[in-house]
Amino acid sequence: MFKVNDNFSALSSGYLFSEVGRRISAYVQANPSADIIRMGIGDVTRPICGSVIEAMHRAVDDEASCATFHGYGPEQGYQFLRDAIAANDYAKRGIAIETDEIFIGDGAKSDIGNICDLFASSNRVAVTDPVYPVYVDTNIMSSRGHSIEYLPCVAANSFVPELPVCSPDIIYLCYPNNPTGTTLTKDQLTEWVRYAQDHGAIILFDSAYEAFITSPDVPHSIYEIDGAKEVAVEFRSFSKTAGFTGVRCGYTVIPKSLRGRFSDGSVASVNMLWNRRQCTKFNGASYIAQRGAEAIYTPQGQQEIGQTIRYYLENARILRNGMSGMGLEVAGGVDAPYIWVKTPKGCSSWQFFDKLLEECHVACTPGAGFGSSGEGYIRLTAFNTLENTVAAVDRLSRLSL
Ligand code: MLT
Repeated sequence: MFKVNDNFSALSSGYLFSEVGRRISAYVQANPSADIIRMGIGDVTRPICGSVIEAMHRAVDDEASCATFHGYGPEQGYQFLRDAIAANDYAKRGIAIETDEIFIGDGAKSDIGNICDLFASSNRVAVTDPVYPVYVDTNIMSSRGHSIEYLPCVAANSFVPELPVCSPDIIYLCYPNNPTGTTLTKDQLTEWVRYAQDHGAIILFDSAYEAFITSPDVPHSIYEIDGAKEVAVEFRSFSKTAGFTGVRCGYTVIPKSLRGRFSDGSVASVNMLWNRRQCTKFNGASYIAQRGAEAIYTPQGQQEIGQTIRYYLENARILRNGMSGMGLEVAGGVDAPYIWVKTPKGCSSWQFFDKLLEECHVACTPGAGFGSSGEGYIRLTAFNTLENTVAAVDRLSRLSL
C-alpha cells in the first residue's frame, strides 16, 4: 500500500480553531436556545467597505466582455496591485520596495505555510510560545518538527521573547502578535534583525495585524529596520485590514537582497526560489479580489477601512477595560484586535473556556491551544459588533470568579 507523510502523525489531533468550533457546536447542539457570543476565532464581522465592493463589481463586469476579460493572471499578482502596495505601504513610510519584490497571494496563511517549500528540512526553527499554530504545524509537516525552539512570552518578560539559544536558521515573528496582542518597539525588533544578521538566519515576519498599530514607537514594517532586507520576509494580509477573510487576498514581500545557500554552498535568491515555486504551484489570486484590494489604497478606501479598524479597536478597548475591571490581568488590545487574559485562581485555559461558554454563553480561544506558555490564559477577539462586545463584557462581569 502507498505510504503517507509520517509527519502528519506528529501533529496535534485537530487544528486549534477547528477544535474550538467543534466544542462550540457540540454545546449549541445540546443547548439550542443558548445565544452564544463568539469571541474565539479572529474572523471579521463588518462588511467590506463601499470602495472595495464597487471595484469588485466593476471587475466582475470586466469578466463579462471579450475586451476586458481576464483569464489566468500573473502568478506574482497584477502589476496594478503591486504598484499600489509599493507606493502606499512602503514608499509612503520611506521604505524602498520594488514591485518585483511583492508577490500577491490568496492570504497570509497560505503563503506562510507554503514558504516551507523553500527551506531544507535540516534547518532549525524558532517560534514564540504562545504561537499562531500554522508556523508549528507547517514545519512539522516539512520534517522540522524535532528542531523547533519555543521562546516563552509570559507576563515576566512582558510577552517579549528572549533571543534564542539554539541558533535557529528560521525565526518566526508575528507583530502585532497573535495571540497575545502585544507588540515590539523599533529597538526590540532591531535586536532581532541584528541577531539574524549575526547568525545567518531568516526572519519570517507575519504582519497580518499591521493596520491596528496606533502606538508611535511600533514599526509598521520590519523593513523600517536597517539591514532587514537582507534577512527578512514580510507577510501581509487584507483579511483583517479590509475584511477579506472570505474574499482572500494578501501579499508577501521577498527582497532581492535576501539570500540563502544550497547544500553545495552556492548562493540562492529567496525571491527567485519563491517565484519559481509560485509559477509551478499557483495561478495567482483572483482578478476580482485584486481589483478589490487595489481600491483599499484610494483615498476613499483608506478612509473607509480606517473607520472599520477604529471600530474594532474600540471593541478591544471595551474588552480590555471590562476584563481589567473584573480584576483580571490583561495584555494586548491596544495595537491589535486580540486581548490576552489571565485566567483566575489557577484555572486552566480549557476550564475557563468551558466556564465562559456554559455560564456566560461567550466563546473564547483557550490560550493553551497556542502553546504551553499559553496555559492559564484565554484570548478574546475584538472582531465582533459593538453590541455583542458590550453584551459579552456585561455577561462576563456577572461571573463569580
Ligand atoms: C485567528 O483567530 O487567530 C485567526 O483567525 C487566524 C487566521 O487568521 O488564520
